[in-house]
Amino acid sequence: MVNGFDFALEAELKGALRKDFLWGYATAAPQIEGAWNIDGKGPSTWDVLAHTPGRVLDNSTGDDACRSYDFFKEDVKLMKSYGVNAYRFSLSWSRIIPLGSASDPVNEAGLAFYSDLIDELLAAGITPFLTLFHWDVPAALEERYKSMLNQDKFVKDFVRYARVCFERFGDRVKHWITYNEPGVYALAGYAGGAHAPNRSSDREKYDEGDTSTEPWIVGHTQLVSHGHVVKVYRDEFQPKQGGTIGITLSGNWSEPWDVEDESDRAAAQRALEFEIAWFADPVHGIGEVDYPACMREQLGDRLPTFTDNEKKLVRGSSDFYGMNTYTAFFVRTAVPPGSPIPPEDHKGNLLWFDENKQGVSRGAESDTEWLRTSPWGFAKLLRWIWSRYHKPIFVTENGTTTKGEHVSAPPREDVLNDTHRIEFYRSYVGELAKAVKEEGIDIRSYFGWTLMDNWEWAKGYTDRFGVTWIDFESPEKTRYPKRSAAFNRQYFKHLIAEA
Ligand code: GAL
Repeated sequence: MVNGFDFALEAELKGALRKDFLWGYATAAPQIEGAWNIDGKGPSTWDVLAHTPGRVLDNSTGDDACRSYDFFKEDVKLMKSYGVNAYRFSLSWSRIIPLGSASDPVNEAGLAFYSDLIDELLAAGITPFLTLFHWDVPAALEERYKSMLNQDKFVKDFVRYARVCFERFGDRVKHWITYNEPGVYALAGYAGGAHAPNRSSDREKYDEGDTSTEPWIVGHTQLVSHGHVVKVYRDEFQPKQGGTIGITLSGNWSEPWDVEDESDRAAAQRALEFEIAWFADPVHGIGEVDYPACMREQLGDRLPTFTDNEKKLVRGSSDFYGMNTYTAFFVRTAVPPGSPIPPEDHKGNLLWFDENKQGVSRGAESDTEWLRTSPWGFAKLLRWIWSRYHKPIFVTENGTTTKGEHVSAPPREDVLNDTHRIEFYRSYVGELAKAVKEEGIDIRSYFGWTLMDNWEWAKGYTDRFGVTWIDFESPEKTRYPKRSAAFNRQYFKHLIAEA
């Protein structure tokens, strides 16, 4: 029993994780920083979305969010008290280059902010993991040329932005992630349309967009621009700076609704390939560089093709497998073979279920409709990724919301005692440690999502994912540690091998 936490059930997992295992929390600039138009920052596409009526569930903006721009020193102190040894955060492109393009000036105040944050982390013994792109495109690039829909222009601008970051921070930062979840970015912003830049074929809600083509173009632009950035890093910076670089992909486990049914089994495989292999096969796969065959079959020439140069740039362009994952689903095939699949379908012709044929639930409910506690799916997903790609895995996001946290400050003790979240972390991280110990899967990091309740994109402040409860009503966004923060501190102490 350590500080009220008992690891008797995990006794055999003591020391299962390598001694240099990195663990901590992840955040994203638009979700926590605030200061959306301060010290020279240009607007991003998410600022535009937030200031367009009707686009955010609670009509909120990220104008202030958690005010981490002002209180980053407190955040670092908080993390130190949580016992972490790493922190994953993203840079706001339009804070660094307000108008975004390769010929636009940099903003020294924005660079200074990140430089100070990096120094503060290092002084606290916390390893920084930097994400270059976590969904906020400079608004000027969307206005000028529709950003990622124009691959040639976008690549030049993204490469220059990345270069500035390597030049300014690469002396101290040794862990780089180019893109966070290119798949979610492409689908939520260009298929469903709820995310920036709000493009979709759904004309009742959105003025522009084409769900049948744009997500695939935007996916391709991200892959190719990622490849260019990695080449620049490897050629010009890695030799002297010695860091690592890669891409982080989203992906949840999909399980056949009826394992005895061949069509359900095929649906589950398609789900994984549309969601994960879409990016992971070109980057981490073997053989010909292409998108998965099932995508080519369903999407035809709406799916871009790789030029020879693009193939070279993309294959092997990630030093590790960056993995974001949350939950699991039961799936079946939607449209039967022989009938046409609608061109707007972008998930692989699927139906989703909370229970399988036998009535077994995918897991306990959270405060978020799609998200349930499904550690069994995480266990299967780790094995699927490891056997298909065989790359060291860095888990870069995993976490949950929990019911009952929408209260006024100060939150009662029982609200801060977030047992649902503790159970989530206990079960998922336990599966991770088992995968390492029992099967030798090479897993090197775990970042919980997230350090503190924040602006959850188009959900506004209605989804609380943090291990810190935030009083969004207070001017200083007061931080209250939840019990899960203390739990994880003890848990990782138990699981990581002593030096
Ligand atoms: C991820 C995303 C995070 C956060 C999380 C919880 O897809 O990268 O920014 O929003 O989901 O919904």
